[in-house]
Amino acid sequence: MTNKRTPEDVTILPRDLHFDMSAADNGPWLDGDPVATAVFNALSLTFPDGERMFMDSVKAYRNEVSGKLAQDVKDFVTQEAIHSREHHLLNNKIDRQKYPVHEIEAAIREKVAFSRDGGPFRMLIGTICLEHFTAMMADLMMEMHTDYGRLFSKTDPALERLWRWHAMEETEHKAVAYDVFLEVTKDWPPFKRYFRRSLSMLIITGHFTHNIAGYAVKLLEADGYETKEAQRAVNAFLWKKPSLFGKGWKIWLSWFKPGFHPWDHDNRAEMAAWKEDFNPAQVAAE
Ligand SMILES: [Fe+2]
Ligand SMILES: [Fe+2]
Repeated sequence: MTNKRTPEDVTILPRDLHFDMSAADNGPWLDGDPVATAVFNALSLTFPDGERMFMDSVKAYRNEVSGKLAQDVKDFVTQEAIHSREHHLLNNKIDRQKYPVHEIEAAIREKVAFSRDGGPFRMLIGTICLEHFTAMMADLMMEMHTDYGRLFSKTDPALERLWRWHAMEETEHKAVAYDVFLEVTKDWPPFKRYFRRSLSMLIITGHFTHNIAGYAVKLLEADGYETKEAQRAVNAFLWKKPSLFGKGWKIWLSWFKPGFHPWDHDNRAEMAAWKEDFNPAQVAAE
């Protein structure tokens, strides 16, 4: 059960892309909707510090991996570094005079520091849990016919492309940190490994969903929403429609299957269609 790994034909290709983010200069860039924009800005604000922690968590174990996994770790780090860079630029589009961006960034830094203070293993386990979350959200974005997929259809094409590129690469590397975790815990009794990752997922899910909702509420308050009204709108967006968190519950739950591996949910075919839009030849032409 525990010797599952990423399929051999999943290759990770960092794409050094740049995006024209000028459409984010004038307020609600996502579907013209302040609630959707607040939630995605909240996510984007967590990425630079969060993804740097992901990078450091796998780098800490780079001497314990070899072969394809060692190469995957390198490519994972490169991808996350580019994601951080681009989301930092998007975050700079949020008007800091109007929105409490500094306060939100300080809160994020504090959470990330807590993970870092626990040492490399706590960072790694946090990373595998959060990567499961990002893979789950990325997967929802692939279903363009759903409410969630449609959300981006009315968004500026360059910004839509930024999020789709990120979602595609998150899918591509969704199991890298997990494979590192399997490698460094290979001598653990299976139950210990299962218990540790399951408990972490419960804790991290609670924190992550609560924090994102909280940051989105703060952003909406700056838009003029009453606190209660902002909370209702954010919760509806996250859990009812388009149900950013709620809709992926089956994937989320699959984590708790003994012997789980991220590629048990095999979305290679869907990912291949997306990769076409970002193939090196096309990217070079941009
Ligand atoms: Fe990323
Ligand atoms: Fe990632």
